[in-house]
Amino acid sequence: DIKKVPSLRGKVILTLFNEASTRTRVSFEQAAKLLSADVINITPTSSSAEKGESLLNTVLTLQAMHADVLIMRDPSSGSPYFAARHLTNMKVVNAGDGQHAHPTQALLDAFTIKRHLGSLQGAKIVIVGDILHSRVARSNIWALSSLGARVVLVGPPTLLPKELLPIQSQNRDGSNNPSDLDISIETDLDYAIKDADVVIALRLQKERQQKGMIPSLREYTRRWLITDSRLSKAKAHVLLMHPGPLNEGIEISSSLAHGLSSRVEEQVTNGVAVRMALLYLLLTGVPI
Ligand code: CP
Repeated sequence: DIKKVPSLRGKVILTLFNEASTRTRVSFEQAAKLLSADVINITPTSSSAEKGESLLNTVLTLQAMHADVLIMRDPSSGSPYFAARHLTNMKVVNAGDGQHAHPTQALLDAFTIKRHLGSLQGAKIVIVGDILHSRVARSNIWALSSLGARVVLVGPPTLLPKELLPIQSQNRDGSNNPSDLDISIETDLDYAIKDADVVIALRLQKERQQKGMIPSLREYTRRWLITDSRLSKAKAHVLLMHPGPLNEGIEISSSLAHGLSSRVEEQVTNGVAVRMALLYLLLTGVPI
């Protein structure tokens, strides 16, 4: 009921998004403002990166203005970690780096699932589609399996990351994967989706793809689109999730995206709360 609290009054939060974003950038800004922090948004076209300034000089310049937190999205994997290594007085939050990680998306996904299922222990969570290029998938694999979920990755073999393929061969032998986390790989969606508690559809990341990774969009849709008939093989109260932005009709049918099973908008709503919690903990160190 209380729209705004004074917890972070006087704190300055910068967002540096060198790649497009709607929900992550806006929800971080909203989260910060609901906690009364001041927010400054920096975009590639509004910064001196346009004139050739390096990322290192950009972040050192921002730190020199005594901002408290830098929230970064960047097309290069590892950029926020590089920035964090060189900054001593400003905290860095990764809002998505290349195809490496999107930690706050995984936190909000875990939170959304937990609210519905109570616990992730033993839940079957099927992640579908372009796993190779998905930082959301990478962060979710580790977050959800660490919380006890059985994570099943399913997609075309060309869009499965090579580093995950040993998991598949070890599971076929009947042995555990090295980390003891319950992660498996399938290439048949109709089989993988059976009895799923949660289905997470991923965006087909055409901007990060090399040519020839899928035969055609039509063929991709035929095998990997989440449709009513496919989803009916999952559990009756399956949660259908997608990190967004959606390519309706390619990964997820329009009727499902806006249907009763869809948790897509709820994920966005929860993203604000999760990012509020993160900023609060980061800047006050006080457990909520
Ligand atoms: N899920 C996600 O990262 O969406 P945006 O690219 O809109 O931030």
